[in-house]
Amino acid sequence: MIKEKMLEEFQELYGSTEGARAYFAPGRVNLIGEHTDYNGGHVFPCALTMGTYGIAKKRADKKLRFYSMNFEKKGVMESSLDDLTPSKNGVWIDYPKGVMWAFQGRGMMLPCGLDILIYGNIPNGSGLSSSASLEVLTGLILKDMFDFQVSMVEVAQIGQYSENNFNGCNCGIMDQFASAMGKADHAIFLDTNTLNYEYAPVVLKDEKIVITNSKVKHSLVDSAYNDRRNDSEGALRALQKVTDIQTLGDLTEAEFEQYKDAITDAVQQKRAKHAVCENQRTIRAVEVLRKGDIETFGTLMNQSHISLRDDYEVSCVEVDFLVETAWELPGVLGSRITGGGFGGCTVSIVKNDKVEVFIQQLGDAYRERYGLEAEFYMADVGEGAHVLADWICEK
Ligand code: GLA
Repeated sequence: MIKEKMLEEFQELYGSTEGARAYFAPGRVNLIGEHTDYNGGHVFPCALTMGTYGIAKKRADKKLRFYSMNFEKKGVMESSLDDLTPSKNGVWIDYPKGVMWAFQGRGMMLPCGLDILIYGNIPNGSGLSSSASLEVLTGLILKDMFDFQVSMVEVAQIGQYSENNFNGCNCGIMDQFASAMGKADHAIFLDTNTLNYEYAPVVLKDEKIVITNSKVKHSLVDSAYNDRRNDSEGALRALQKVTDIQTLGDLTEAEFEQYKDAITDAVQQKRAKHAVCENQRTIRAVEVLRKGDIETFGTLMNQSHISLRDDYEVSCVEVDFLVETAWELPGVLGSRITGGGFGGCTVSIVKNDKVEVFIQQLGDAYRERYGLEAEFYMADVGEGAHVLADWICEK
């Protein structure tokens, strides 16, 4: 369906699909390990089967033409390899342009322009990493079309670099890494300090991973995110005066207790506490999951939420309501906010035979309380970014 629609659209917009190639990069859901990725800690995300699709074709000149089937009103948006600067009002093409800029900055010069068609099925503003998937998609397009010798880990790093330096959000590596390196039915246990990673199976026998979209996105998300990062960095600097560490992820909970008074700013101390404890929780969560102890995994998810709500302060009343209501529902092993925060989605582990009741009761309670329709998705854990080789036959 998506394939036929996109091929037809590409043909209509750009003349023909001859020489074009098709690609997909997924969104992600993070199971545990939140706001740890820029603090040298661990994360545990998985790639979804939802994501961003793209078809691209080389041009004979330096023009760049972009069209998104999600933003049809904007029409075909034109730019050029000679003008890889962010727009003043932040449009979506700043993400692919930023990645092109970052490739060129690393000496991988684009020999010609591209015609690009995009379609994404990640709900807008849901915090399931639609922008990271667009960055990784662009990186894969460039790697594949121009034979650039970059690994998919580097594609993820380039995506993060461009988001930090072109788009102005100081995000960590988690989202791009999950999109680039995901594996079907597995979550990625990633040490963001070293980029060492392992895959852990997340095919649960008796439970489902349910994502609940609050449909709320509070404004100033990027600036609040950057503030949290600054708080954490301030805390790290204070701790470095009394102990020899590179990141907050270097500390155990006991070490943090020992040194925490060096952080005189109370807010910074709370932020650091979250970063340290969340990292340790994530390590523990993966350990218990590997032993098949989903119950304890769920309890750690709940603790993660409390810490994000009270110490890191990245939740909001709507999301707290969804999580706290979920905790009381039958068959729920764990529930927490997922992603950057200030709205977006929750992730819950729910017994198979209670999923229907969960959706019904949580949806009803949320509607009654906030007049909003929550959306629910089963987390289908899919592959990382890849070429859709069977979309277009090479002539
Ligand atoms: C956003 C960022 C990630 C990560 C999460 C919080 O999704 O892009 O790098 O920091 O927030 O865990």
